[in-house]
Amino acid sequence: MCLSPLHPLLLRLPKCEHHIHIEGSLTPSLLFSLSAKNSIPLPSVSEDPAFASPEALNERYARFSSLDDFLAYYYAGMRVLVTARDFSELAYEYLAGQARDANLWHAEVFFDPQAHLERGVDIETVVGGLLDGKRRAEEEVAKSGGKRLTVLFIPCLLRHLSVDDSAACFELMRGKGYFADGSLAGLGLCSSEVARPPGNWAGIFADARREGIRRTAHAGEEGPPGYVVGALDVLGVERIDHGVRAVEDEGVMERLSREGVLLTVCPMSNVRLKGAERIEHVPIREFLDRGVRFSINSDDPAYFEHWLQDNYCAVQEAFGLGREEWKTIARNSVEGSWCGEERKREILEEIEEVFRETEVSAV
Ligand code: HPA
Ligand code: ZN
Repeated sequence: MCLSPLHPLLLRLPKCEHHIHIEGSLTPSLLFSLSAKNSIPLPSVSEDPAFASPEALNERYARFSSLDDFLAYYYAGMRVLVTARDFSELAYEYLAGQARDANLWHAEVFFDPQAHLERGVDIETVVGGLLDGKRRAEEEVAKSGGKRLTVLFIPCLLRHLSVDDSAACFELMRGKGYFADGSLAGLGLCSSEVARPPGNWAGIFADARREGIRRTAHAGEEGPPGYVVGALDVLGVERIDHGVRAVEDEGVMERLSREGVLLTVCPMSNVRLKGAERIEHVPIREFLDRGVRFSINSDDPAYFEHWLQDNYCAVQEAFGLGREEWKTIARNSVEGSWCGEERKREILEEIEEVFRETEVSAV
């Protein structure tokens, strides 16, 4: 909740989220209860006092020093996810909750298959569970009337593992027919970025491109603007996840603007992982002024304690944007989505409607 006069508009805006790692929606309380249910021990308190209780873990989450510091907790946490039901519940809770709390209309959800495969959870369990959670959330939203929720899933290959491991995981998912049958909407790349340039994954992304599989990659979060260029040129991605360090290079900014590439920006993630000292330093103003398209996203909301609506409100509190600027952001989030044209039209019409209906109280 923000104090801006535009808060009612921001709440009512139909939202598209393109950058949410479903494992990053695992709250400390769910982590502790799944650990007990599945008999998966957490790190001992003598190893790390943060695992004393959900509250202690939450306190630790408020003090991440970097992406890698966060990732250590993120990968440790997701070990409690074991059954298809666990994945289903995680997806369902996030999707139904955000449809209710943030007026989420369309979600493109990342997950990390290699992090589950490497501890013996098979791909059918992960993908089957996520698809079940999506179906339940979509049905619930449809039943409540007034709107529809659409959901796509995007597996991210993990930079901290070997390229061979990524290739095997990609082949496994392709062999199951998940891309061909629409279970998975595209391919992503995430995890520890510094000193892991996108070019290492060029062969896999070239295969994906040949197969007509859509592509995106985390770049320019902690890595330099050159990684954004590498993701575009070498991986042939259509979107860039984060991309905030592009602001350091005028040529990259100009190219992003000219080519209309969507950046999936996660403002509070940048603050919590110390990429930006304060939200005012996230380059929202620069992107708007240079015509660089972006959407606003939560990344790992349970770890950063800011969910989708909180990110919208935090941006408004920091930048005091006007109605037209919000209309641009909302429209670009729809245009940069990977849903069909008909679905885009539905969401765009709702945006127009919300702006019409809030006109009277406009400031
Ligand atoms: N960056 C890279 N990898 C990630 C992130 C992130 O912000 N969140 C989850 N995996
Ligand atoms: Zn991310």
